[in-house]
Amino acid sequence: MAALPFTILIFGGTGAIGKHITDAIVSAGASPGHTISLFTSEATASSPAKAALLSSWKSQGLRVVTGDVNNADDVSRAYEGVDVVVSCLGRNALTVQIELIKLAEQSGSVKWFFPSEYGTDIEYDATSKDEKPHQHKLQVREFIRNNIKKLQCTYLVTGPYIDMYLSRLPGFEAIGGYDVRSRKAVVIGSGNDAVGFTSMPDVGKLLVAALRNPDHAMGRALKVQSFVTTPLEIAREFEKQTGEGWTIEHTSNQELRELEIRLWNDGIPLATAATLRRIWAEGGTLYEKTDNEKLGLAPGDMEPLAKVVGRAISEAGK
Ligand SMILES: NC(=O)c1ccc[n+]([C@@H]2O[C@H](COP(=O)([O-])OP(=O)(O)OC[C@H]3O[C@@H](n4cnc5c(N)ncnc54)[C@H](OP(=O)(O)O)[C@@H]3O)[C@@H](O)[C@H]2O)c1
Repeated sequence: MAALPFTILIFGGTGAIGKHITDAIVSAGASPGHTISLFTSEATASSPAKAALLSSWKSQGLRVVTGDVNNADDVSRAYEGVDVVVSCLGRNALTVQIELIKLAEQSGSVKWFFPSEYGTDIEYDATSKDEKPHQHKLQVREFIRNNIKKLQCTYLVTGPYIDMYLSRLPGFEAIGGYDVRSRKAVVIGSGNDAVGFTSMPDVGKLLVAALRNPDHAMGRALKVQSFVTTPLEIAREFEKQTGEGWTIEHTSNQELRELEIRLWNDGIPLATAATLRRIWAEGGTLYEKTDNEKLGLAPGDMEPLAKVVGRAISEAGK
């Protein structure tokens, strides 16, 4: 497939989802006369833990720009000649993007900006505006609506990452998850309510698909997914691939709501995960139609459940 006809700058590109997005963009490559750059902190650029990743990308043509995301001069310098900015900044840095977007609008070169979303639909229905984990992303969208005239913005709404959904959170098993070693799963409610998921590698693939389809992607909140399944179907897939029956426990929707309130009241960061899991369990990831097809992606282009479950089993070493 043709290389991307843009000069691209990525923020947060070595992070949990940023890694997959950067990988996909670097693999797609930039057409002659264009470049792909990663803006990262000095700490990350010199971190031994990130050295192999950065050097592998550099060998594929990625340029690494170091600077402080909070320093307007560093950012403006990095924007020179850039057409597209892809932000993968983490939850703690979401509101930093307001300044990044302002600078992009003023830059004279940046035409397209992807704010860091890659998750739950923060404008799914009338109740979404009150959800605590959505507030910073909502602020970013609000700023764009009220202040941005020239820059095109695209939100890639992927729903939960199936890869993360599969793991159990020690001490908080009741919010749901799958433990390969003990062959045990905790599902919310009956386990039969559908959830739309995206795998982490597919987030990168979908971002590149958006870059290849600007006519559809620019100015939109794109709803994309790898597949829709249920918590029990996931458990069945684990049983099939491990060749053993699993113990399945249920947390009722009401119990999850009570746990969620307790975690927020106690100031425990996992409250965010509890809220999101409640939203997912209550249908907040389901659509009549996604944007996948408009981005040129058929169901067969996306990772299936079996592949992600297989990966989880091999990562658990069992
Ligand atoms: N759908 C899901 O299930 C799901 C799950 C997790 C996350 N997400 C979403 O994915 C997006 C990215 O999250 P992530 O977990 O991948 O991010 P992350 O790994 O926590 O952070 C990504 C990068 O952001 C930069 N960063 C983080 N905190 C910062 C701070 N306080 N100040 C300045 N820079 C900071 C760092 O970049 P440098 O190292 O380059 O400086 C970091 O590597 C978010 O919008 C999040 O809501 C979705």
